[in-house]
Amino acid sequence: MLDLLITNATLPDGRTGMSVAVEAGRIVEVTPGLSAPAHEIVAAAGYLLSPPFCDPHFHMDACLSYGLPRVNQSGTLLEGIALWGELKPTLKAEDIIERALTYCDWAVAKGLLAIRSHVDTSDPSLLAVEALLEVKRRVAPYLALQLVAFPQDGVLRSKGGVDNLKRALDLGVDVVGGIPHFERTMSEGAASVKLLCEIAADRGKPVDMHCDESDDPLSRHIETLAFETHRLGLQGRVTGSHCTSMHSMDNYYVSKLIPLIAESGVSIVANPLVNITLQGRHDTYPKRRGMTRVPELMAAGVNVAFGHDCVMDPWYGMGSGDMLEVAHMGLHVAQMTSQKGIRACFDAVTTNAAKLMHLQGYGLEPGCDASFVLLQARDPIEAIRLRANRLKVWKKGKLLAESAPAASMLHLPGRNGATSFTRSL
Ligand code: FE2
Repeated sequence: MLDLLITNATLPDGRTGMSVAVEAGRIVEVTPGLSAPAHEIVAAAGYLLSPPFCDPHFHMDACLSYGLPRVNQSGTLLEGIALWGELKPTLKAEDIIERALTYCDWAVAKGLLAIRSHVDTSDPSLLAVEALLEVKRRVAPYLALQLVAFPQDGVLRSKGGVDNLKRALDLGVDVVGGIPHFERTMSEGAASVKLLCEIAADRGKPVDMHCDESDDPLSRHIETLAFETHRLGLQGRVTGSHCTSMHSMDNYYVSKLIPLIAESGVSIVANPLVNITLQGRHDTYPKRRGMTRVPELMAAGVNVAFGHDCVMDPWYGMGSGDMLEVAHMGLHVAQMTSQKGIRACFDAVTTNAAKLMHLQGYGLEPGCDASFVLLQARDPIEAIRLRANRLKVWKKGKLLAESAPAASMLHLPGRNGATSFTRSL
């Protein structure tokens, strides 16, 4: 007797009429038209069954703090950092935990079951680090939360930056972060990349650095990150996040840079909602989009994922934990409007993100965890177009969340001879 049998599902790779059989929290069979006894049978009615959404780049210590202590007036990254600096001394652990748990509830309802969150290590008390480690423990049964030690004020620029970051790692933070473009000089930025990669190599940790989150075409720390990855043998364990300066770089230089990134096995995370909002703020017209070169990186074989980055915080006042909204913005900003391009944007918030996060048991193959999302859409393209309703969300075979099918009741005189009718969205 199976624990769960899902019938007539469409899978992201295009297979239709598929049955997914679950036993003891794992997928045991994926095949067309399976009929077998099960404790629960869910008829998917042709809708899309996807592995869960994964957010590879987030700031959970700041989320849902919009307006505290004030709103970012200029809308720039730098005012956001200054505003976060004003907020930090007033933060209380219980408030960070409460906001983070609320966000995790939103995430689960949207089928987002894995989040890599940076946590600011600049404060010597490590208050935010301890708070998010507590959140990680509490949500572990239903959401995989990875934490990145993020020296927001610059690991070399801020007093005690290296020591604070190392103490955060000692406490159990998973990944080494950095912010080379925020160090005092380009050479200090490069030195910080070298130092942080060496710390990661010594401790056997992955690296995920904010890298060149700037419109400055000469901000080239991603080159140093790729070089250090290669030098230290960290291939497959390193991610460069944002990399927005690549948008503005000289094309000849990029023709050398992208193959270097591919050779080094460095993954790249773009954050479309926030990049399109924060970058280009010093421009008059034309205004740059400021997102990294997503299709070109993908074409070179680089693993590229999309992150949410911010939800209602000093940098960004919008967002709801919906990775389909992220993919939707990503395909617009990158002009990835071909069928293949849209599907690649779906992968950027699912499989590509899972790959750089090294998630175990992720996928829709036999042997994988029975963690998936049933969307009210026929395929990944419709899912992004509609930011489709998440009908059901499972983690290891257990139902975590469900939503009523989205439908509108229309009252249109003269249509089809009826005065009113219901339409699915
Ligand atoms: Fe970020």
